[in-house]
Amino acid sequence: MSKFTIERVRTGIPGLDELIEGGFPRGDTILVAGKAGTGKSILAVQFLYKGATEYNEPGVLVTLEEPPHLIKRNMMRFGMDLERLEREGLLAIVDLSPSKERTPVMVGEYPSFDLSGLEAIILSHIRRIKAKRVVIDTLSIMAYKFRSRDILREEFFKLCASITGEGCTLLLTSEIPAQDTGLGVFDIETFLASGVIVLYNEKISETSRSRSIEILKLRGSKHSSRIHSMRITDEGIRVWPGEIPGH
Ligand SMILES: Nc1ncnc2c1ncn2[C@@H]1O[C@H](COP(=O)(O)OP(=O)(O)OP(=O)(O)O)[C@@H](O)[C@H]1O
Ligand SMILES: [Mg+2]
Repeated sequence: MSKFTIERVRTGIPGLDELIEGGFPRGDTILVAGKAGTGKSILAVQFLYKGATEYNEPGVLVTLEEPPHLIKRNMMRFGMDLERLEREGLLAIVDLSPSKERTPVMVGEYPSFDLSGLEAIILSHIRRIKAKRVVIDTLSIMAYKFRSRDILREEFFKLCASITGEGCTLLLTSEIPAQDTGLGVFDIETFLASGVIVLYNEKISETSRSRSIEILKLRGSKHSSRIHSMRITDEGIRVWPGEIPGH
């Protein structure tokens, strides 16, 4: 393999790989964006689950929104047993969800806000389980707390660079606010990411909505430029590459 060959990381989302030349470029940072309830967390955790169970790639999940016991319960509906993966050393969960007593890594007031504590924790898990995939769900939460966009951007950048510097493929999720507030946090994360995937759950009539997925950008890849149907099934998220939503 030449040094210019892009190695692909299978996403574990049926139907998605064929839209992006076989998977995410290894070691890149990919952003999964969408409004509330569009399936960002399920997609991200499925990426870790399938990575661990089918592609021999352990993963680290950093959760800032949902507590681990609820993620585990909800993913079990898809037959994805995260606790088993944890026991087998194929998954590490870093719990920064609000329900937990605030951990020291998150303490830090503007303008001295820095993520080096969090970075150290993530890196120690990566090394311990030899992780190849990392998910941060979601960076938006942190961003709302800090007003200095320059510091935020710099800190996010350092964090992402050190994770991918370990050889991991990094998936970030980001919530697009229901009311368009001029992109908000989303543009910082877009700047960090070499790929952006957007999930939709749009109203297609008075009585129904339809889920879909779009690859907005993926550097180094000839990707689909259409919006494709997506569904949340009993086995998790699935994409129908040949299907146009609403038809
Ligand atoms: N077992 C299931 N079967 C079918 N659909 C489900 C199932 N579990 C969840 N969903 C759908 O997925 C949605 C939640 O997906 P997910 O948590 O990934 O969204 P999200 O984009 O992360 O949302 P948020 O921005 O609130 O974090 C639910 O609102 C529901 O519509
Ligand atoms: Mg979520």
